[in-house]
Amino acid sequence: MYIVYSIRKVCPLQVIAGNNEDDCSLNMHAKKINIAIDGFSSCGKSTMAKDLARELGYTYIDSGAMYRAVALYAIRKGWITETAMDEEALHKHISEIKITFSPNAQGGQDTYLNGENVEDEIRSLEAANGASRVSTLGFVRKELVRQQQEMGKEKGVVMDGRDIGTVVFPDAELKLFITAPPEIRAQRRFDEMKAKGFNPPAYEDILANVKERDLRDTTRAESPLRKADDAIELNNTHVGIEGQLQWALDMFNRITTENEQN
Ligand code: DC
Repeated sequence: MYIVYSIRKVCPLQVIAGNNEDDCSLNMHAKKINIAIDGFSSCGKSTMAKDLARELGYTYIDSGAMYRAVALYAIRKGWITETAMDEEALHKHISEIKITFSPNAQGGQDTYLNGENVEDEIRSLEAANGASRVSTLGFVRKELVRQQQEMGKEKGVVMDGRDIGTVVFPDAELKLFITAPPEIRAQRRFDEMKAKGFNPPAYEDILANVKERDLRDTTRAESPLRKADDAIELNNTHVGIEGQLQWALDMFNRITTENEQN
């Protein structure tokens, strides 16, 4: 079933009025909350999370970038090859991996691995596949979840990933779960690469990669991707970037208003 969401104008913060009923109202006086956004790879959840954090003045944290950075560290050390992964070496050195985020000139943020900006390198298909593999390891998850929980302890965080609503912030006040069929997500990934000026792999290869990652994400023993019981779901197949942001802002308003009334 598709949820078709009407697209309305997203208001810049300066004109957001408060608790009135018009389209531009946003409950900005609400106590800060944590927002967990989970979903399949390439489903647009990072875009939603970034946009939502910007509109609310919250901190955005890309948990997938953290798994990618761990994978990059392991790839550079030669611990991950096409056919093998040296889990023992990674386990021994996991505490040497420090991941931080810092704002960039484009208004986004870059990922740093032990102080080095690795934002571009972690977006490669090799790092994505490595991330999918290291994210199956319990000791990697334990360390990254610890760091993520630390980042969210003051609230005011929008974090996206696979286990945010179920493991990282099980008490998050707002949990969103985003879906779209693999074919749609593969096409979006293909278009995005083209738009960025990269020469994309064949659509069929991207689709196969999306499906492979879905399978690994949903079937792994450690914190498999699943919708938290109290998460609100959006299938964004027919919803654009502005539409999904407006939906998320509406969910934020609904939850924070309900919380104030209780
Ligand atoms: O969202 P992404 O494609 O950047 O994530 C990279 C990989 O990391 C993906 O295969 C799933 C994994 N991941 C995870 O297991 N848990 C998270 N919270 C975030 C990502």
